[in-house]
Parts: sequence; structure tokens; C-alpha cells
Amino acid sequence: MIRNEVVDSLMNRRSIRKYTEQIPSEEEILTVVRAGQQAPFAMQLGSVIIQRNRETNFFNAPIQFIILCDLHRMEKVMKIRGWEREASNIHSLLFGVQDAAYMAQNMVTAAESLGMGSCYIGAAPYMAEKLRQDCNIPDHVFPLVILSMGFPAEDPPVRPRYPMEFHLFEEKYQELTDEMTENAMAVMDQGYLAQNYYRNAGFMIPISDKVKEENYTFDNYSWTEHISRKMALWGTDPEELGKSLRICRLAVDEPAPEG
Ligand SMILES: Cc1cc2nc3c(=O)[nH]c(=O)nc-3n(C[C@H](O)[C@H](O)[C@H](O)COP(=O)(O)O)c2cc1C
Repeated sequence: MIRNEVVDSLMNRRSIRKYTEQIPSEEEILTVVRAGQQAPFAMQLGSVIIQRNRETNFFNAPIQFIILCDLHRMEKVMKIRGWEREASNIHSLLFGVQDAAYMAQNMVTAAESLGMGSCYIGAAPYMAEKLRQDCNIPDHVFPLVILSMGFPAEDPPVRPRYPMEFHLFEEKYQELTDEMTENAMAVMDQGYLAQNYYRNAGFMIPISDKVKEENYTFDNYSWTEHISRKMALWGTDPEELGKSLRICRLAVDEPAPEG
């Protein structure tokens, strides 16, 4: 693999969940957001709200950004052009999620280059009602993710990733044999166990006796079990997100935008 300053910065990035007291300067903040803006876009559907209250920010970060999937701003432009959005909510959201996500990740990389760290918080879509109220978010704007940011007060190791052969397929999607899958799982699990990740975090996703017997301790609970539990036990009710989308007037089962 070729290494240079940019690649090294991408390869050495870790999510940061502890921050020093230092408050990023306005210039640093503007640089981060400006670099975010410059990400590739389909329709510039990403917006950000910055929050500076350490007391209420996740991880008590000095700043956090609510990353928004913003169809409202697009509609303002269209109105002046004499158009109405007829693109369905699901079509618009699919592009909006990409625009917002690429923008956010540019912000992460720019922050890294300025010596800052960051961490995404995935709960934003479930907090839609509160975020709309707290931040005056209009209809047709969906809170996608929160991005906490500041100067690192921890130095965690770089987290492992799946091996390349499990990630990159040449021309055609490759059949994933059990052997390949188990090898890839071992890389992830051994990597996280070697870092004592879940023991240090003191966290295992609890399971009820009704679902399965708990056979894991921090000696063998690792990433593939953790992530499997997340996908087996959390987010099972589509109505939860359905409600958030409806509150934002972006229900995906409706063909055209409302009101
Ligand atoms: C969409 C998304 C949501 C995330 N949500 C959370 C979260 O709620 N809490 C958290 O501590 N980390 C969260 N993360 C960070 C991931 O846990 C982290 O990126 C992953 O474990 C890999 O670790 P690394 O970023 O240090 O390489 C999230 C990341 C993404 C992309």
C-alpha cells in the first residue's frame, strides 16, 4: 500500500470519544465545514447545525454537528425557479443521505488534519422530534447523524477492518464461503479482543433469556457478536423510523412531497 500524508491520516484515524477543554477556533470550525461543503454532491442536500454546549453535547464535546439531509433548502431554490419537487421522498432521501454523508466525512478528515478528533452518533434519526423542536428544523429536513468534535483527550488504537478479500470483489460479487467468512470474522474478533475493546468499554449488548442464553464474557465477546446483536435486536420496528420520517414530512411510502 502506498503511504503519503493523506493516506496516513485516513489510516490512522480513530473515533474520539474524550475531548480536552480546548475549544476549536472559529477559523478551525469554518475550515472543517468549508471542506465538508466541497465534498462531491448530487444536489447539495447536506446541511449542518453546530451545537456548542458541552453540558448537553455527546461525550461533552466542545462542538457537535447535526448532519441534516435537507430537502427544504432545495425546495426554496426550486420555488424561485418556478418548480416544485415531484421527486419522491425515497428518491430524494437516497441522494440526500449520500450528500450529507460525504460532506460529513470530509469534515471528519479535515478535522483530523487540524489535530482534532471526532465521532459519529447514530441516534439522530430517532431524536428527530426533539432535534426539530430544539433547533427549529423545518419540514422536509431529516437529521441523519450527529458528529461530535474537539481535541482528543484519549489515544485509542486504530480499529481493525475486514481483510481485503472480504471487501473487494473483482468484476463479480464473490461467493462468501463459510471459511472466508470465518477467517474475516477471526481478524475482526481477535483484533478487538487484543485491544480489550469491550472490556475497557464495560459494555456488552444484553440479551434476554427468552432470546438466547448468554454464553459470552469479556474474554470472548467481540465485534462480530456485538454487531450481530445490534442487527438482531435493535431497530426491529420499522415504525420507529417511519414515525421520525413522518414527523419530518418525509414519509417514504408517499410518492410526492406533502404540503
Ligand atoms: C453512522 C454511524 C453511527 C455511529 N454511531 C456511534 C454511536 O452512537 N456511538 C459511538 O460511540 N460510536 C458511533 N459510531 C462510531 C463507530 O463505532 C466507529 O466508527 C467504529 O466502531 C469504527 O471505529 P473507528 O472509527 O475508531 O475506526 C458511529 C459511526 C457511524 C459511521
